[in-house]
Amino acid sequence: MQIEAPYELVIFGGMGDLAQRKLLPALYLLYRDGRLPAGKILCVTRQPLEQQAFLDTVLAALKTHVATEYLEEAQWQGFSEFLAPATLDASDVDGYGALAGLLSDDDVNRVVYLATGSDLFTPICQGLSNANLIGKSTKVVLEKPIGHDLESALAINNDVARFFEERQIYRIDHYLGKETVQNLLVLRFANSLFESQWNQHYIDHIEITIGESIGVEKRAGFYEQVGAMRDMFQNHLLQLLCIVAMEPPSKLETDAVRDEKVKVLRALKPIVGEAINRNVVRGQYDAGVSDGAPVPPYRDEPGVHHKSNTETFVAAKVEIDNWRWAGVPFYLRTGKRMAERATEIVVSFKEIPHSIFPLQHKNTMANKLVFRLQPDEGVRLMLCEKRVGPGMSVRPMNLSLNPANHRKARVPEAYERLLFDALCGNATLFVRDDELMEAWRWIDPIISHWQEVDLRPEPYTSGSYGPAASTLLLARDGRLWVENS
Ligand code: BG6
Repeated sequence: MQIEAPYELVIFGGMGDLAQRKLLPALYLLYRDGRLPAGKILCVTRQPLEQQAFLDTVLAALKTHVATEYLEEAQWQGFSEFLAPATLDASDVDGYGALAGLLSDDDVNRVVYLATGSDLFTPICQGLSNANLIGKSTKVVLEKPIGHDLESALAINNDVARFFEERQIYRIDHYLGKETVQNLLVLRFANSLFESQWNQHYIDHIEITIGESIGVEKRAGFYEQVGAMRDMFQNHLLQLLCIVAMEPPSKLETDAVRDEKVKVLRALKPIVGEAINRNVVRGQYDAGVSDGAPVPPYRDEPGVHHKSNTETFVAAKVEIDNWRWAGVPFYLRTGKRMAERATEIVVSFKEIPHSIFPLQHKNTMANKLVFRLQPDEGVRLMLCEKRVGPGMSVRPMNLSLNPANHRKARVPEAYERLLFDALCGNATLFVRDDELMEAWRWIDPIISHWQEVDLRPEPYTSGSYGPAASTLLLARDGRLWVENS
């Protein structure tokens, strides 16, 4: 697949955190790898900005977010020729004429990336339409979270659908762009070994963890409105769950994959009423130590209300009501200021029915398949082997498939993959409208319940694995999160 040139990429929120930290570095790396042809990249900003000052800011961002070995002067010079700022108040729907002046009159390969809050999606689409900037080939990329509940997501979706057909809408979840997530698809559907075991007959339970050691950083304004449930669970965690649990799609085509993902979301057992208290844990980080340094509680972070009730951690026991997964719990969790940055999917197989060896811990010795997404990516299979020496003692051993071991190539960033796909018009790794709605439909009762009963998040020490209730969630079922086992 190749990007059709000439293309035009217009980034709303172009001077914002996401664009500077992720999007522009990803575009630079695509260019450096020879995969981004000449085109136009406009960063929309409200404040007027001279070309040189703009380029200085972008270069400073690249210096911070691109590894030094990849940042080369000649490459930067070439890439910078595509870049320009565009001054615009995105909420002024009649003010898009100036933007039109910077873009082609033809229906070129145009991608409009909305790296803004979703409250701006409607005015931006309206403004683009007023200035005749939406052609048949135009695509729009929507950043998450889209809305704050089902109703608002539906409203935004309907608004965007007035201007774009579904085939033109790319809802981004950058976790789908991660190399290991795609590797998970390959491991599942290119190996009969795993697929034959992938069901309630052989799997005991599955854990999915997205742990972050960072706190809220400078994003309190956003995060206070959102919390971990909407920021991470509703999208990244549920998408990972879909990839792990979906049926094999008939082909690797956009709708074939999305059809299977949405079936998983539809089969999620609703968690409502009293069951929420039992099956969902809500936490907020307290003071502690992170990466060796003392850190303040969430409530003392700049921009956070001193009595904030926003959750920075969520864990839940989720069940999928279908033939393949009946009775297999999926334990999902995500949190900021956790002990380490680690995203892992742990598939725990059932323990052996009968042991002829003196196994003291039959359950913790059960086989596990661990997909590690970050910080280092890899797959490991936990098996048992004989301890060398006299007797017949059994010990665990790891069989590691670490891509870094047999691949010299740089692992592309998630946004590189997704920006490339959007510019090529491939929506397979983007989220369809029905997936988004099903995710909100499942999450909504939980958030509403928290609001109704005014549930305070349980504090947990920064640098820990989350609140005690999260450990209890598994302990009640006679299980432990993998880092504790
Ligand atoms: C974003 C969230 O979607 O994902 C952030 O808004 C979070 O709060 C980030 O820090 C984590 O992404 P990654 O790729 O660093 O795991």
